[in-house]
Amino acid sequence: MKSDVAIIGAGPAGLMLGHLLRKAGIDVVILERQSAEYVLSRIRAGVLEQITVDLMDELGLGARMHKKGLPHHGFYLADGERLIRIDIAELTGKTVMVYGQTEVTRDLMDACAERGIEVVYEASDVTLHNIESDAPYLTYKKDGAEYRLDARFIAGCDGFHGPSRKAIPESVGRTFERIYPFGWLGILADVPPCNEELIYANHDRGFALGSMRSKSRSRYYVQVPLTDRIEDWPDDRLWDELAMRLGPEAGASITRGPALEKSIAPLRSFVFEPMQLGSLFLAGDAAHIVPPTGAKGLNLASSDVAYLSRALIQFFKQGTEEGIASYSKTALARVWKSERFSWSLTTLMHRFPDGDAFGRRMQVAELDYIASSRAAQTALAENYIGLPL
Ligand code: APR
Ligand code: PHB
Repeated sequence: MKSDVAIIGAGPAGLMLGHLLRKAGIDVVILERQSAEYVLSRIRAGVLEQITVDLMDELGLGARMHKKGLPHHGFYLADGERLIRIDIAELTGKTVMVYGQTEVTRDLMDACAERGIEVVYEASDVTLHNIESDAPYLTYKKDGAEYRLDARFIAGCDGFHGPSRKAIPESVGRTFERIYPFGWLGILADVPPCNEELIYANHDRGFALGSMRSKSRSRYYVQVPLTDRIEDWPDDRLWDELAMRLGPEAGASITRGPALEKSIAPLRSFVFEPMQLGSLFLAGDAAHIVPPTGAKGLNLASSDVAYLSRALIQFFKQGTEEGIASYSKTALARVWKSERFSWSLTTLMHRFPDGDAFGRRMQVAELDYIASSRAAQTALAENYIGLPL
């Protein structure tokens, strides 16, 4: 089999890149290790920056997002009984869209067949070959048979655990990492949200987040020790904890219900440089991970594939190589700004096990500054809605 671009991974990055290239008449094949059902079973974050909304609209795949999504004009920082509203619409003139990543993935996935994008699900043992040549190829297995996929370029959109990043020799690549000493316990429930907008809470008992998927489906998180297991958190204990941490007003408005999904995820900041080598380009979680606090994971995947698709279209349609030559430098400039914001908001809003009195005073002082300064709120808002491409 032969294609212009071979994409590894049918998550948001791989699917969005596939659509952007196909729309420009570039042939793509996507190899995905899991089944389509499995990919859609993943519960992920749910806040879209304008660039992600714009990309879905550019692809003509935004109808369901605009119908089911919730434009949000602000969010809250809670600190004990204090509630600080960040009016992102007034401060930046922009909004964010609350719409589950699973739904973005579904919209992209459902449009592949009609647009001539071949996705091979349950492709195992995907292996990269000759990535530093002009004729790289992938091998993989499907239903017991072995296959080869030749392409001019390979896009590694295979997430944190995929093979693409590992195909770049250690002598070339460099990693930057911060592992946080806590995790997030998340619950999805078909109950109305406790507040119309998201609430990020820094409480003496730890961080909590009140979010949503719709006006009838809520998504909540609490910070938990890395040693905690799901079994330690029956629904009632989790609802009690949320009522305490989100503050008296929001806590009193929580509607309880059975968990549709409950999981614990660790938090890390991670960046791999460079995001390219020869004919291989990395995009999305394959190259970087952010703690979910700033809701940047999906949106960084969007900006990566916006840059990469433009560079590849320039190569195939105009025969110029400036874009592909500078992809890593261009993408990393935005990645690092989002990494900084996600790390900063995580540091501001969580209680660290080894935190001391000075660290807590720094959090209070920063929250006091944000509460009293339009400039501080504007800086927070413009990072939250997403810095320009
Ligand atoms: N072969 C083929 N596919 C693979 C392999 C492999 N060896 N390893 C991983 N994959 C697939 C995964 O099954 C997954 O569907 O690559 C895809 C990567 O998708 P994501 O992990 O969702 O990463 P990305 O598309 O970059 O999207 C980033 O997803 O995980 C969230 O928080 C993250 O919001 C961020 C977004
Ligand atoms: C979510 O709704 O899952 C969500 C929202 C905002 C975040 C993280 C997660 O910062």
